[in-house]
Amino acid sequence: MDQVGLSFGFGSPRKLIFGRGSIERLGEVIEELGLSGKALLVTGRSFARRSGYLEKLKTILESSGMAVSIFDKVEPNPSTETVELGAELARREEVDFIVSFGGGSAMDAGKAIAVLSSQGGRAEDYFYPAVVKPPVLPVIAIPTTCGTGSEVTKFAVISKGLRKDVIVGDVIVPIASILDPDVLSYLPRELLAYTSMDAISHAIESYFNKNANPLSDIYVFGALRTIMRYFKDAYDGSIDARGKLLYASMLAGKAINLCGTAMVHGVGYYLTMRYGFQHGLANALLITQFIRQVSNLVPQRALELGRRLDLNPSTPAESAELLIKALNELKRYSNIPLSLKDAGVPEEDLERIVEGGMSYERNLKNSPGTPTRRDVEELVRGAFKGA
Ligand SMILES: [Fe+2]
Repeated sequence: MDQVGLSFGFGSPRKLIFGRGSIERLGEVIEELGLSGKALLVTGRSFARRSGYLEKLKTILESSGMAVSIFDKVEPNPSTETVELGAELARREEVDFIVSFGGGSAMDAGKAIAVLSSQGGRAEDYFYPAVVKPPVLPVIAIPTTCGTGSEVTKFAVISKGLRKDVIVGDVIVPIASILDPDVLSYLPRELLAYTSMDAISHAIESYFNKNANPLSDIYVFGALRTIMRYFKDAYDGSIDARGKLLYASMLAGKAINLCGTAMVHGVGYYLTMRYGFQHGLANALLITQFIRQVSNLVPQRALELGRRLDLNPSTPAESAELLIKALNELKRYSNIPLSLKDAGVPEEDLERIVEGGMSYERNLKNSPGTPTRRDVEELVRGAFKGA
């Protein structure tokens, strides 16, 4: 288990553009990919309009000869109802491709709409363990946060009632991604901190993962080194540093695209749906305890991670503790609670959280070892105290 195998496969966007002002190149990307006809712009409910980007994107699309329809009804943790509504609009308007502008919610909703509008049915018909097959409308993803990595992944996380499920398939990897750091100048620093914690979780859950491989490790080291170096400057408003985090979250997205998320995301999903914690915050509350716990299972890898991050550990346990300390420092800097207790979760709820986390089997099974109820309990109780 301390060794990773050289065996993997993953889909990637055909075109990925990174750089300040790169949103202006949307027209060029469309032309290069040979897209034509009508675009559906998928966004959240307010930021795209308020920031002026909705108008800007519409203008770029129209001046490239495209017709444009708008679906700006995506809520955080988008529901099956919302994506079905979006798909209905896409079908009625006979759109040819989708441009998703937003955080993970808008991008994931765009992917789900791309599937449903092409193939019909209900969102849950496509939930994992199903794997989506063609046809799917092409999606161009433009992230506005620095966490989810959805612009390069094959996942769309959709909520049904109090549960988060996932639509999976290489065919829903966006055909193009445009990463423009200027868009992040609008990101409130609280959300910047939360989404960066999501990217950190993607990297760490990929590293300590049954599907880890040499390629995902490269993405992990790149993502973690960058986030740890630039987190504070980005939090304080530096656009250059925010661009670095946008880059790092894309790298971490590549890592989960190869590995899938693990136990932290499983329990985190439950925390979000039960208490309303933002997705990245939910993961932040669990990730340090996860590091301590799994480092015991794969000690050589734990040691290697600390070395790659220049933490200079001499033992695996020390490596884990140094990484936990470094992450806790980032949390303190950005006012993220260090424990479930500090986040206001009552102790009498812990059993129910363990139960809820156990139901995310698809995430648990990616974790090192074979997590049992006892492991999930250790994670939840450790996170309650704070690692
Ligand atoms: Fe995530």
